[in-house]
Amino acid sequence: MTDNKTLISIKGLYKVFGNKPQSILPRVKAGEEKEKLLVETGHTVGLQDINLDIKRGEIFVIMGLSGSGKSTLIRHFNRLIDPTEGQIEVDGTDVMSLDAKALQEFRRHKMSMVFQRFGLMPHRTVIQNVAYGLQVQGLDKQAREEKAQEWLDTVGLSGYEKQYPAQLSGGQQQRVGLARALCTDAEILLMDEAFFRARSVDS
Ligand SMILES: Nc1ncnc2c1ncn2[C@@H]1O[C@H](COP(=O)(O)OP(=O)(O)O)[C@@H](O)[C@H]1O
Ligand SMILES: [Mg+2]
Repeated sequence: MTDNKTLISIKGLYKVFGNKPQSILPRVKAGEEKEKLLVETGHTVGLQDINLDIKRGEIFVIMGLSGSGKSTLIRHFNRLIDPTEGQIEVDGTDVMSLDAKALQEFRRHKMSMVFQRFGLMPHRTVIQNVAYGLQVQGLDKQAREEKAQEWLDTVGLSGYEKQYPAQLSGGQQQRVGLARALCTDAEILLMDEAFFRARSVDS
């Protein structure tokens, strides 16, 4: 595999939120405004004709105003959201062609994600949160906790293993989320404003 090979390819991607997205699509394509469509139809335009290629090894940043569709776009990469129209290919695979089992495998091994609001599990300890991805991959307890410990040390949270997320500051929770995402060695790391609140929360 060469370094400049395309890893994620998005073609003609549209997402319309609402009850009958398909019926609204022609109006979106005709260039009608998002605000007008929302008032008249109750549908929200999330994405409009997105085309992009992300190469292996590339750090790709998506910038835009609040509500412009950044989260919606990256949630298409691992199919947390299904498109209204368009293609999403990851490493040559059309993610819409994956059945439930293949999709589960794909999410476990190919990508990990850091969410804007951390997405930690409140009833699991810090180390259990970090090791979670390895647990669903089927690693035994000792192996996964060893690896989780390494990542906790890396993000500067040694000693917090047995604490619960609510006992940590916002910025510390954010680092738990990061350690969890890195722990699985997934080739693709999706970060949805992963550092967005670190300064304001972690005093
Ligand atoms: N589940 C949903 N249902 C309806 N509308 C949504 C949903 N998710 C996002 N949207 C709308 O899609 C647009 C893009 O949202 P989002 O991707 O969260 O923006 P960003 O991450 O860039 O701030 C917004 O107008 C938002 O209201
Ligand atoms: Mg967002």
